[in-house]
Amino acid sequence: MDQKIAKADKKVKKIISEKRKKDADDRKVGSDIFDKRTLETLYKLANKNYIDILNGEISTGKEANVLKGIKDDKYYAVKIYRIATSDFKKMNFYVDGDHRFRSRHSNKRQLINSWVSKEYKNLERLYKAGVKVPKPITSLNNVLILEFIGDDEGNPAKTVKYNPPKDVDEFLLKVLNEMYKFINNGKLIHGDLSAYNIMNLNEEPVIIDVSQSVIYNNPIAKELLDRDINNLTNDFKKLGSKITKEEIEKHLGVKDGIVLSLKN
Ligand SMILES: Nc1ncnc2c1ncn2[C@@H]1O[C@H](COP(=O)(O)OP(=O)(O)O)[C@@H](O)[C@H]1O
Ligand SMILES: [Mg+2]
Repeated sequence: MDQKIAKADKKVKKIISEKRKKDADDRKVGSDIFDKRTLETLYKLANKNYIDILNGEISTGKEANVLKGIKDDKYYAVKIYRIATSDFKKMNFYVDGDHRFRSRHSNKRQLINSWVSKEYKNLERLYKAGVKVPKPITSLNNVLILEFIGDDEGNPAKTVKYNPPKDVDEFLLKVLNEMYKFINNGKLIHGDLSAYNIMNLNEEPVIIDVSQSVIYNNPIAKELLDRDINNLTNDFKKLGSKITKEEIEKHLGVKDGIVLSLKN
């Protein structure tokens, strides 16, 4: 037991020293993601053998930082929600209409934990439905560990926004195949679909960022679906696609905002 604690302690010291190193040469890692509770959470994940070290930052978003984790020479994406800068109004709005999360959240930390477990459950559901999403590994409190989307050397793939596909229409058709499964088999509506949340992995799409995704019968699902379709149409139009909104709807099995395979 003592040995186990010593081992975990060593791992966390490694995490902290990596973080210090990073802080020294890269001020981008805000110290607010490594608050005491987050460190404790990372400690637990290291102790449970999910990560050995955190090595470098992939992205700093509005509410979350995505870092690169390493375990047995394999890379993982570690998404850490920052307690300080999360949009609680938005989180409450999406969590409220979801029967999987009945509990009321008076506490910000609890709400973030529900939000993270919602992202985990959505990924699990989509992964099982055969949609190309990062495989979820585990989630604990405000931290989510995911399959790393990138190459074996640890270079992350870029999103469509920063790495537009070579053949835009061909790529969009692949996205529509994934989104068909997402909606009709996963029975979820993404809710934030855009060129920022589709990765381009060697010209194959991987759909990410599903924390706000809702089940198709959620009262806000119809509105989100329409917004997703508009964003997808516009983002790909900007990249040169000629595929129209109507064609996109047809590919997704949607007519007049209604998913034909689901009675919503
Ligand atoms: N599994 C992953 N593998 C590699 N990079 C990832 C992974 N998930 C996210 N990223 C990178 O991190 C960025 C932010 O992730 P995202 O889930 O979209 O969070 P945010 O809420 O900050 O938008 C993405 O645009 C992508 O560049
Ligand atoms: Mg995103």
